[in-house]
Amino acid sequence: MARVVVSRHLPDGGLDPIAHHEIVIRDHDDRYSAGELAAALADADALVCLLTDRVDGGAMEAAPALRVIANVAVGFDNIDVAAATERSIVVCNTPGILDETTADLAFALVLAACRRMSAAESDLRQGNWQGWELSGYLGQDVHGATLGIVGFGRIGQALARRASGFSMEVIHHARRDTGLPGYVADLDELLARADAISLHVPLGPDTHHLIDARRLALMKPTAVLVNTARGPVVDEEALAEALHSGAIFGAGIDVYEKEPAVHPRLLSAPNVVLLPHIGSASVRTRTAMARMATQCVADVLAGRRPAHPVNPEVLERP
Ligand code: GLV
Repeated sequence: MARVVVSRHLPDGGLDPIAHHEIVIRDHDDRYSAGELAAALADADALVCLLTDRVDGGAMEAAPALRVIANVAVGFDNIDVAAATERSIVVCNTPGILDETTADLAFALVLAACRRMSAAESDLRQGNWQGWELSGYLGQDVHGATLGIVGFGRIGQALARRASGFSMEVIHHARRDTGLPGYVADLDELLARADAISLHVPLGPDTHHLIDARRLALMKPTAVLVNTARGPVVDEEALAEALHSGAIFGAGIDVYEKEPAVHPRLLSAPNVVLLPHIGSASVRTRTAMARMATQCVADVLAGRRPAHPVNPEVLERP
């Protein structure tokens, strides 16, 4: 029986694949501090963690028996994978099962930002709606508009399927030529052509502030930006400025540079729909993500190949 630290409470059924192991989970559901995590890992064989847990080399150093870290998320920028690989610790994530749910939310943000839903609802709730006006809350049409998808992996492609149902023209950019219709090699060109832009790239050194002030300035004044990927892909300060100055029409944002903090100028910006990182938050998807992560742990502990290693080279080692 191995010792598995589970950093936070998981949805019902999420622990089933590791039920035969010793599970270390706290009664309360607060985040581990760095020191607490290192202490908890001291005699752990496995860690199941969330994207809000920073798992760095220091935590691994304190965990000589650690064999596997499973992140209940597709993104794994919270884990120092190089440090894990160096120590032959397998890192796993949960790709695939959250694509459709996340694409649903990205499309909802395209609709909400184009049609000014947050601002309109907020006026209504505050008693500021004076009745139907011919020129009230005029937004941008989504049907027939051009959607620019940045990053054309599984989630980007799932979003494209939704857009085709709204008769949108879909163009996409990816670092490597996808060979698919609508590919635009130059990101700047895509930004200038699209009416709605949605980001679906992982966070890494190449994508940090991929959308900065210069690129925001390339967008049409009628365009909206949607980010359900990772906050630091967008320069939040520059986005807030673009919204306040009217350089772009609006934005739909689910992820932030310094979660859970939200840039105060974003909070006060006009026509921005702000959600608290809920891209994959459906009951079914979050349960499936938890089970996928714990199944990977069960597999590594049993000497089987896990379905979703992000550093598979570790598995080739004797
Ligand atoms: C959510 O943001 C994830 O990476 O799964």
